[in-house]
Amino acid sequence: MFAAARLETESKPALYAGLAEQARGLLAGERDRIANAANFAALVWHALPDINWCGFYFFDGSELVVGPFQGKPACVRIALGKGVCGAAAATRETQLVRDVNAFDGHIACDSASQSEIVVPLVDATGRLVGVWDVDSPRLARFDEDDRAGMETLCGVFLESLR
Ligand code: SME
Repeated sequence: MFAAARLETESKPALYAGLAEQARGLLAGERDRIANAANFAALVWHALPDINWCGFYFFDGSELVVGPFQGKPACVRIALGKGVCGAAAATRETQLVRDVNAFDGHIACDSASQSEIVVPLVDATGRLVGVWDVDSPRLARFDEDDRAGMETLCGVFLESLR
C-alpha cells in the first residue's frame, strides 16, 4: 500500500526532492500514461499544502483535453494559446501566475483559484504531450522553488512514459 510521506515542514527544495523520489518509486515499472498521470496527480494533491486543483491536460493533436486530476470538475478542452494552460502549451515555457485575475484570458474553472503554475510537457523527441496544471486558493502561492520543483517532477512523469 502506498503512503504519502508527510513533507509539509521541510524547505520547499527538500519537499520537492522528497516528492520526486516518491514519484519515481510510484511510477517505476509502469508506462501507461493514464495510470501514471492519475497516481502522479494523487501524490502531489496529498503532499502539497494550499492547492485546490492539480492535474493534466493532454494534447490530442489539435487542442488540450483534460486528463487525470484531483479537485473539482474542470473545463474539458482548452485551445492552444488560451488561458494559462494554453499559454504554457503554445510557448513551451512554465507559466507562473501570481494572480490569475491579472492574467488576460485566464479560464476560471474553479472560482476559488487565485494563483497557479502550469508546466509544459514535452517528450524527448520534442513532441508536446500536454501540460501539468496546479491551482491555489492563495495569491502568489507559487514561487521559483515551485517552478524548479514542478519541472523536476514533470521530468519524472515524462521519463516514466519512455
Ligand atoms: N486555469 C486554467 C484552466 C484550467 S483549470 O484551472 C483546471 C487556465 O486558465 O488555463
